[in-house]
Amino acid sequence: MYETPDDLQDENLVRTGAIRVYQANDFEGMRLAGRLVAEALDMIAPFVVPGVTTQEIDDRIREYTLERGGLPACLGYKGYAKTVCTSINHVVCHGIPGDRVLKDGDIVNIDHTVIVDGWHGDSSRMYSVGNINARAKKLIDVTYESLRLGLEQVKPGNTFGDIGYAIQRYVEDNRMSVVRDFCGHGIGRLFHDAPNVLHYGRRGEGAKLEPGMFFTVEPMVNLGKPHVKVLSDGWTAVTRDKSLSAQCEHTIGVTEDGLEIFTASPAGLFRPN
Ligand code: MF3
Ligand code: CO
Ligand code: CO
Repeated sequence: MYETPDDLQDENLVRTGAIRVYQANDFEGMRLAGRLVAEALDMIAPFVVPGVTTQEIDDRIREYTLERGGLPACLGYKGYAKTVCTSINHVVCHGIPGDRVLKDGDIVNIDHTVIVDGWHGDSSRMYSVGNINARAKKLIDVTYESLRLGLEQVKPGNTFGDIGYAIQRYVEDNRMSVVRDFCGHGIGRLFHDAPNVLHYGRRGEGAKLEPGMFFTVEPMVNLGKPHVKVLSDGWTAVTRDKSLSAQCEHTIGVTEDGLEIFTASPAGLFRPN
Protein backbone atom coordinates (compact mmCIF):
# COMPACT_ATOMS: atom_id res chain seq x y z
CA MET A 1 0.00 0.00 0.00
CA TYR A 2 1.13 3.51 -0.65
CA GLU A 3 -0.48 6.72 0.43
CA THR A 4 -2.01 9.11 -1.99
CA PRO A 5 -1.29 12.73 -1.03
CA ASP A 6 -4.42 14.28 0.49
CA ASP A 7 -4.62 16.83 -2.28
CA LEU A 8 -4.99 14.12 -4.89
CA GLN A 9 -7.62 12.04 -3.14
CA ASP A 10 -10.24 14.59 -4.10
CA GLU A 11 -10.35 15.16 -7.83
CA ASN A 12 -11.59 18.67 -7.13
CA LEU A 13 -8.20 19.52 -5.67
CA VAL A 14 -6.17 19.10 -8.83
CA ARG A 15 -5.19 22.00 -11.02
CA THR A 16 -7.33 21.61 -14.13
CA GLY A 17 -6.63 24.86 -15.95
CA ALA A 18 -10.16 26.09 -15.35
CA ILE A 19 -10.57 29.15 -13.14
CA ARG A 20 -12.43 28.08 -10.03
CA VAL A 21 -15.38 30.10 -8.79
CA TYR A 22 -15.96 29.75 -5.04
CA GLN A 23 -19.13 30.21 -3.03
CA ALA A 24 -20.03 32.99 -0.60
CA ASN A 25 -19.33 30.62 2.37
CA ASP A 26 -15.78 30.09 1.18
CA PHE A 27 -14.82 33.71 1.82
CA GLU A 28 -14.78 33.06 5.57
CA GLY A 29 -12.08 30.38 5.21
CA MET A 30 -9.94 32.73 3.12
CA ARG A 31 -10.39 35.51 5.68
CA LEU A 32 -8.95 33.34 8.44
CA ALA A 33 -5.97 32.18 6.36
CA GLY A 34 -5.34 35.68 5.01
CA ARG A 35 -5.51 37.25 8.44
CA LEU A 36 -2.97 34.84 9.92
CA VAL A 37 -0.47 35.59 7.15
CA ALA A 38 -0.97 39.31 7.62
CA GLU A 39 -0.56 39.04 11.40
CA ALA A 40 2.68 37.09 10.94
CA LEU A 41 4.01 39.75 8.55
CA ASP A 42 2.99 42.44 11.08
CA MET A 43 4.64 40.52 13.94
CA ILE A 44 8.01 40.30 12.17
CA ALA A 45 8.34 44.00 11.34
CA PRO A 46 10.25 45.05 14.49
CA PHE A 47 12.72 42.18 13.99
CA VAL A 48 13.77 43.16 10.47
CA VAL A 49 16.78 45.20 11.61
CA PRO A 50 20.55 45.23 11.02
CA GLY A 51 22.25 42.17 12.54
CA VAL A 52 19.40 39.70 12.26
CA THR A 53 19.76 36.65 10.02
CA THR A 54 17.10 35.60 7.55
CA GLN A 55 17.01 32.23 9.35
CA GLU A 56 15.92 33.98 12.56
CA ILE A 57 13.09 35.60 10.61
CA ASP A 58 12.08 32.22 9.20
CA ASP A 59 12.13 30.62 12.67
CA ARG A 60 10.01 33.37 14.22
CA ILE A 61 7.41 33.25 11.48
CA ARG A 62 7.23 29.45 11.53
CA GLU A 63 6.73 29.33 15.32
CA TYR A 64 4.18 32.14 15.24
CA THR A 65 2.19 30.43 12.49
CA LEU A 66 2.20 26.96 14.05
CA GLU A 67 1.23 28.34 17.48
CA ARG A 68 -1.87 29.84 15.90
CA GLY A 69 -2.98 26.73 14.09
CA GLY A 70 -1.62 27.57 10.65
CA LEU A 71 0.50 25.31 8.47
CA PRO A 72 3.39 26.95 6.60
CA ALA A 73 2.50 26.15 2.97
CA CYS A 74 6.00 26.63 1.56
CA LEU A 75 7.65 24.21 4.00
CA GLY A 76 8.14 21.04 1.96
CA TYR A 77 6.53 22.56 -1.14
CA LYS A 78 8.37 21.06 -4.15
CA GLY A 79 11.28 20.37 -1.82
CA TYR A 80 11.50 23.93 -0.41
CA ALA A 81 12.87 23.59 3.13
CA LYS A 82 11.93 26.92 4.76
CA THR A 83 8.76 28.65 5.89
CA VAL A 84 9.18 31.96 4.10
CA CYS A 85 11.10 33.42 1.21
CA THR A 86 13.46 36.30 2.06
CA SER A 87 14.51 38.17 -1.07
CA ILE A 88 17.17 40.80 -0.46
CA ASN A 89 18.18 43.66 -2.79
CA HIS A 90 18.72 42.24 -6.31
CA VAL A 91 16.93 39.00 -5.41
CA VAL A 92 13.62 39.08 -7.24
CA CYS A 93 11.85 36.28 -5.36
CA HIS A 94 12.29 32.87 -3.68
CA GLY A 95 15.37 33.87 -1.68
CA ILE A 96 16.08 31.11 0.85
CA PRO A 97 16.50 32.05 4.53
CA GLY A 98 19.88 31.16 5.98
CA ASP A 99 22.89 32.73 7.64
CA ARG A 100 22.80 35.96 5.62
CA VAL A 101 22.87 38.86 8.10
CA LEU A 102 20.69 41.86 7.28
CA LYS A 103 22.62 45.10 7.10
CA ASP A 104 21.81 48.79 7.08
CA GLY A 105 20.45 49.84 3.70
CA ASP A 106 19.15 46.42 2.62
CA ILE A 107 15.63 46.02 1.31
CA VAL A 108 14.02 42.64 1.85
CA ASN A 109 10.80 41.04 0.73
CA ILE A 110 9.29 38.49 3.10
CA ASP A 111 6.79 36.17 1.40
CA HIS A 112 4.65 33.89 3.56
CA THR A 113 1.86 31.44 2.78
CA VAL A 114 -0.27 29.63 5.36
CA ILE A 115 -2.94 26.97 5.24
CA VAL A 116 -5.82 27.23 7.72
CA ASP A 117 -8.52 24.56 7.48
CA GLY A 118 -7.36 23.82 3.94
CA TRP A 119 -7.56 27.45 2.79
CA HIS A 120 -4.42 29.26 1.57
CA GLY A 121 -3.41 32.84 2.32
CA ASP A 122 -0.35 34.21 0.49
CA SER A 123 1.18 37.64 0.98
CA SER A 124 4.48 39.46 0.83
CA ARG A 125 5.73 42.90 1.77
CA MET A 126 8.91 44.94 1.59
CA TYR A 127 10.89 45.77 4.72
CA SER A 128 13.61 48.42 4.95
CA VAL A 129 16.65 47.55 7.04
CA GLY A 130 17.87 50.67 8.83
CA ASN A 131 18.18 53.60 6.43
CA ILE A 132 17.72 52.92 2.75
CA ASN A 133 18.67 55.18 -0.13
CA ALA A 134 16.27 57.26 -2.21
CA ARG A 135 16.32 54.92 -5.24
CA ALA A 136 15.41 51.95 -3.09
CA LYS A 137 12.62 53.94 -1.44
CA LYS A 138 11.26 55.00 -4.81
CA LEU A 139 11.35 51.39 -6.06
CA ILE A 140 9.35 50.20 -3.05
CA ASP A 141 6.85 53.04 -3.42
CA VAL A 142 6.32 52.31 -7.12
CA THR A 143 5.90 48.59 -6.42
CA TYR A 144 3.19 49.18 -3.77
CA GLU A 145 1.42 51.71 -5.91
CA SER A 146 1.46 49.33 -8.89
CA LEU A 147 -0.21 46.65 -6.76
CA ARG A 148 -2.79 49.17 -5.55
CA LEU A 149 -3.56 50.25 -9.11
CA GLY A 150 -3.81 46.64 -10.26
CA LEU A 151 -6.22 45.82 -7.43
CA GLU A 152 -8.28 48.91 -8.27
CA GLN A 153 -9.17 47.11 -11.52
CA VAL A 154 -10.63 44.11 -9.71
CA LYS A 155 -14.39 44.02 -10.18
CA PRO A 156 -16.78 41.76 -12.08
CA GLY A 157 -16.71 42.41 -15.82
CA ASN A 158 -13.14 43.69 -15.92
CA THR A 159 -10.49 41.26 -17.17
CA PHE A 160 -7.15 39.95 -15.95
CA GLY A 161 -5.60 42.03 -18.73
CA ASP A 162 -6.95 45.18 -17.09
CA ILE A 163 -5.01 44.31 -13.93
CA GLY A 164 -1.77 43.61 -15.79
CA TYR A 165 -2.10 46.72 -17.91
CA ALA A 166 -2.58 49.00 -14.90
CA ILE A 167 0.52 47.58 -13.20
CA GLN A 168 2.73 47.68 -16.27
CA ARG A 169 1.73 51.17 -17.31
CA TYR A 170 2.47 52.66 -13.90
CA VAL A 171 5.79 50.83 -13.49
CA GLU A 172 7.03 51.73 -16.97
CA ASP A 173 5.86 55.34 -16.62
CA ASN A 174 8.28 55.43 -13.71
CA ARG A 175 11.07 54.01 -15.93
CA MET A 176 11.21 50.74 -14.03
CA SER A 177 10.42 47.26 -15.36
CA VAL A 178 7.94 44.46 -14.63
CA VAL A 179 9.33 40.93 -14.26
CA ARG A 180 7.71 38.58 -16.80
CA ASP A 181 9.02 35.22 -15.57
CA PHE A 182 6.87 35.02 -12.43
CA CYS A 183 3.21 35.78 -12.00
CA GLY A 184 0.31 35.73 -9.55
CA HIS A 185 -1.98 32.73 -9.37
CA GLY A 186 -5.37 31.38 -8.52
CA ILE A 187 -5.48 30.27 -4.86
CA GLY A 188 -7.98 28.78 -2.42
CA ARG A 189 -8.02 25.05 -1.70
CA LEU A 190 -4.86 24.90 -3.86
CA PHE A 191 -1.74 27.03 -3.36
CA HIS A 192 -1.03 27.63 -7.05
CA ASP A 193 -4.12 27.27 -9.21
CA ALA A 194 -5.27 28.61 -12.55
CA PRO A 195 -5.07 31.26 -13.85
CA ASN A 196 -1.60 32.72 -14.17
CA VAL A 197 -2.10 36.34 -13.17
CA LEU A 198 0.24 38.39 -15.36
CA HIS A 199 1.56 41.74 -14.16
CA TYR A 200 1.61 43.14 -17.68
CA GLY A 201 -0.88 43.03 -20.51
CA ARG A 202 -3.51 44.81 -22.51
CA ARG A 203 -6.81 46.25 -21.44
CA GLY A 204 -9.77 43.94 -22.08
CA GLU A 205 -7.63 40.85 -22.71
CA GLY A 206 -7.71 37.66 -20.69
CA ALA A 207 -10.51 36.04 -18.73
CA LYS A 208 -13.34 38.11 -17.27
CA LEU A 209 -13.38 38.52 -13.50
CA GLU A 210 -16.33 36.93 -11.70
CA PRO A 211 -17.48 37.03 -8.08
CA GLY A 212 -15.96 34.09 -6.20
CA MET A 213 -12.63 34.04 -8.02
CA PHE A 214 -9.72 33.96 -5.55
CA PHE A 215 -6.23 34.90 -6.73
CA THR A 216 -3.00 36.69 -5.85
CA VAL A 217 -1.52 39.79 -7.41
CA GLU A 218 2.20 40.01 -6.69
CA PRO A 219 4.14 42.30 -9.02
CA MET A 220 7.93 42.12 -9.07
CA VAL A 221 9.49 45.40 -10.17
CA ASN A 222 13.14 46.00 -11.13
CA LEU A 223 15.03 49.28 -11.22
CA GLY A 224 16.85 47.98 -14.30
CA LYS A 225 15.88 45.47 -16.96
CA PRO A 226 13.16 42.86 -16.38
CA HIS A 227 15.34 39.82 -16.99
CA VAL A 228 15.98 37.32 -14.23
CA LYS A 229 17.99 34.16 -13.71
CA VAL A 230 17.62 31.40 -11.15
CA LEU A 231 20.73 30.51 -9.15
CA SER A 232 22.14 26.97 -8.88
CA ASP A 233 20.18 26.37 -5.64
CA GLY A 234 17.17 26.00 -7.95
CA TRP A 235 15.15 28.71 -6.19
CA THR A 236 16.80 32.11 -5.80
CA ALA A 237 15.79 34.36 -8.69
CA VAL A 238 17.98 37.44 -9.23
CA THR A 239 18.03 40.30 -11.70
CA ARG A 240 20.47 39.57 -14.53
CA ASP A 241 21.75 43.14 -14.44
CA LYS A 242 22.08 43.10 -10.60
CA SER A 243 19.61 45.96 -10.28
CA LEU A 244 17.44 46.24 -7.18
CA SER A 245 14.09 44.45 -7.21
CA ALA A 246 10.97 44.74 -5.06
CA GLN A 247 7.70 42.83 -4.73
CA CYS A 248 4.47 42.91 -2.79
CA GLU A 249 1.58 40.48 -2.78
CA HIS A 250 -2.01 40.21 -1.64
CA THR A 251 -4.53 37.38 -1.79
CA ILE A 252 -7.95 38.68 -2.82
CA GLY A 253 -11.45 37.53 -3.65
CA VAL A 254 -13.69 39.08 -6.31
CA THR A 255 -17.00 40.28 -4.82
CA GLU A 256 -20.24 41.47 -6.47
CA ASP A 257 -18.96 45.02 -6.64
CA GLY A 258 -15.19 44.84 -6.32
CA LEU A 259 -12.85 42.85 -4.15
CA GLU A 260 -12.02 41.75 -0.66
CA ILE A 261 -8.34 41.80 0.34
CA PHE A 262 -7.89 38.74 2.55
CA THR A 263 -4.31 39.62 3.54
CA ALA A 264 -4.85 43.24 4.59
CA SER A 265 -2.73 44.16 7.63
CA PRO A 266 -4.74 44.42 10.88
CA ALA A 267 -2.05 46.84 12.16
CA GLY A 268 -2.04 48.92 8.97
CA LEU A 269 1.56 47.88 8.27
CA PHE A 270 1.19 46.42 4.76
CA ARG A 271 2.79 49.46 3.27
CA PRO A 272 5.44 50.79 5.64
CA ASN A 273 6.29 54.48 5.46
N1 MF3 B 1 4.72 32.47 -1.85
C1 MF3 B 1 5.24 32.32 -3.20
C2 MF3 B 1 4.15 32.84 -4.10
O1 MF3 B 1 3.85 33.94 -3.97
C3 MF3 B 1 5.61 30.93 -3.52
C4 MF3 B 1 6.83 30.48 -2.82
S1 MF3 B 1 7.06 28.84 -3.20
C5 MF3 B 1 8.35 28.41 -2.26
O2 MF3 B 1 3.54 32.20 -4.89
F1 MF3 B 1 8.42 27.14 -2.32
F2 MF3 B 1 9.43 29.02 -2.73
F3 MF3 B 1 8.17 28.81 -1.04
CO1 CO C 1 1.76 33.93 -4.56
CO1 CO D 1 3.74 34.57 -1.95
